[in-house]
Amino acid sequence: MKLQVINSPFNEEQVQLLNDLLPKLTAAQKQWLNGYLAATSASDVIVEEIIDHGAPALPAETAPQKTRTVTVLFASQTGNAQNLAQKLTFELQAKNIEAEVVSMAKFKPNSLKKVEDVLIVASTNGEGEPPDNALGFHEFLYSKRAPKLDHVRYAVLALGDTSYEFYCKTGHDFDDRFKELGAEQLLPIVECDVDYEEPAAKWFTDIQNILAQATNTPTAENATAPTATGGTDYTRNNPFAAEVLEKINLNMTGSNKHTVHLELSLEGSGITYEPGDSLGIVPKNNVQLVDALITALGFDANKLVTDKQVTLRDALINDLEITVLSKPLLQKIAEFTTHSDFQNIVAQTSVKDFVYGRDVLDVVEAYGPFSWNEEQFVSILRKIPGRLYSISSAQSAVDEEVHVTIGRVGYESHGRERFGVASTHVADTIEIGDTVNVYVHKNPNFKLPAEDKPAIFIGPGTGIAPFRSFLQEREETGATGESWLFFGEQHFVTDFLYQTELQAWLANGTLTNLNVAFSRDTDQKVYVQHRMQEEAAELYDWINRGAYIYVCGDEKHMAKDVEQTLIQIIAAQGNKSEADAVAFVKELQQEGRYLRDVY
Ligand SMILES: Cc1cc2nc3c(=O)[nH]c(=O)nc-3n(C[C@H](O)[C@H](O)[C@H](O)COP(=O)(O)OP(=O)(O)OC[C@H]3O[C@@H](n4cnc5c(N)ncnc54)[C@H](O)[C@@H]3O)c2cc1C
Ligand SMILES: Cc1cc2nc3c(=O)[nH]c(=O)nc-3n(C[C@H](O)[C@H](O)[C@H](O)COP(=O)(O)O)c2cc1C
Repeated sequence: MKLQVINSPFNEEQVQLLNDLLPKLTAAQKQWLNGYLAATSASDVIVEEIIDHGAPALPAETAPQKTRTVTVLFASQTGNAQNLAQKLTFELQAKNIEAEVVSMAKFKPNSLKKVEDVLIVASTNGEGEPPDNALGFHEFLYSKRAPKLDHVRYAVLALGDTSYEFYCKTGHDFDDRFKELGAEQLLPIVECDVDYEEPAAKWFTDIQNILAQATNTPTAENATAPTATGGTDYTRNNPFAAEVLEKINLNMTGSNKHTVHLELSLEGSGITYEPGDSLGIVPKNNVQLVDALITALGFDANKLVTDKQVTLRDALINDLEITVLSKPLLQKIAEFTTHSDFQNIVAQTSVKDFVYGRDVLDVVEAYGPFSWNEEQFVSILRKIPGRLYSISSAQSAVDEEVHVTIGRVGYESHGRERFGVASTHVADTIEIGDTVNVYVHKNPNFKLPAEDKPAIFIGPGTGIAPFRSFLQEREETGATGESWLFFGEQHFVTDFLYQTELQAWLANGTLTNLNVAFSRDTDQKVYVQHRMQEEAAELYDWINRGAYIYVCGDEKHMAKDVEQTLIQIIAAQGNKSEADAVAFVKELQQEGRYLRDVY
């Protein structure tokens, strides 16, 4: 509604100016102005009141404010977005803002008609895909059935990783679609790279200020939100130095694989974890690679750099990522070289093919000379991200220890041998008695079902890790639910990880069924999905009896093939069309009965 001269304390010219300006303001701008006017007592006018009613409003202190409810929705695969969403909700509530946190898997699309302020915290999974818990909501939102959202105000915090081609895509999907459906953006989308704590904290503050101003809520003192780090302060930035108690190569001589079983002591740390959680390892870069890079750069290894004033060599070994190229990094490097080939590469829409199998050393060797100095060079590198490993022990069984199962990554590319940063560091460098810097990464989305429920575990290769933890837990607690494991690797003789433990569990009933697939022992390659197909009738029976299905391990091939097989089994055994079987699997996912921890 327009402001009328007759109802206001303004003259005609002022009314004209206000009527021109006010409809163009965003909610954030209105609230800022509102707060500004109230705070400076420059006027008794509350801007929103003018817009809505065209009449002078009550003074800010006495104006009755309707509190809008905030719905915090999260899309999360491994728990980061979920933990942030919970923390944000806690902080909003501590500031007397009515807020609730809901998983996108649990959020009823019909509720969209009723929500008021929606804050979305969304990570991206797969190759630019939504996390499993958000697949249904994402699909609904992009369908014709999605309602108009012009009664909604919203903001999005997007988590991602710049080393992926589709950076923060799911967050952008939600942002774009809310806008298209008419919702009003409270704040522009904020993207967060792997080091998300700082930008997320700033977004928290910004959004809370906007919401607090909207409801005239006094800004409360900082409340301490629950942490997601196993009840301790150990994080990626403040890891615990855990002593290595045991280190075993689970593969026998002659294997193509090298899988490390690592047992670490958590004594004195107070760290707790549950089956399904992961252990973060803070890795170090390969020393030979660092030295080769410093030589290629022609830099002084002892030059003190960064705020920490550590030597260039130490910064490159301990703190900075040098093995992953991304478009943002190439763009920064391009500012320091005029090499035309490199400028052309960076100008391409996708740098996916170029970055695959290359690292910073490849660029430095091929596209110089560069105009940077030591400090400028380190300033363009991002912090080396922690690597997550599914915990393969249960605390009920191992007490103040934690076990992980790490596949060593090594390959040759562009004529040079390459080493997976964390896995090779652990496999080749770490000895019993050394320490490894770790922290627990809680994953609330990958947990055992009630003790009496049947559970199907599909975990080839290192994918077996969380299932060893689940089975240890079920044995310790005397769970009555049946457990069925599908495990696969290349060769029976050299690669049957945890064979004796699995057979003992089979013998004592902790494990009801065990099916194994060794792909290179026969002419025809046999994988876990083939074993599932052979057991189709019984698998379908378990699913009908309420079994939970868990998949862990390779995301690119295995997880996709397993899902396709699951759909085929459900279609064939349940006499369903493929579309109905797909819907059935989605339903299982929504119910939290089909859970994946894939990478
Ligand atoms: C929730 C979660 C749980 C996980 N659990 C486990 C686990 O239990 N056990 C486990 O071993 N891993 C697990 N991982 C994977 C683990 O976090 C690391 O990604 C893995 O160990 C590789 O890390 P890295 O530092 O050794 O290798 P990096 O230095 O990160 O190198 C790996 C990268 O090298 C590139 N690469 C690999 N091979 C080639 C090739 N042939 N040509 C070109 N490029 C190539 C790929 O881009 C790959 O991403 C898990 C991951 C997640 C997210
Ligand atoms: C298997 C896998 C695939 C991923 N794919 C993408 C991607 O395509 N784009 C992106 O920006 N980030 C991607 N990421 C990074 C995650 O979004 C990021 O780590 C985020 O913090 C995870 O949050 P979550 O724990 O809430 O799922 C991927 C991470 C994993 C483990």
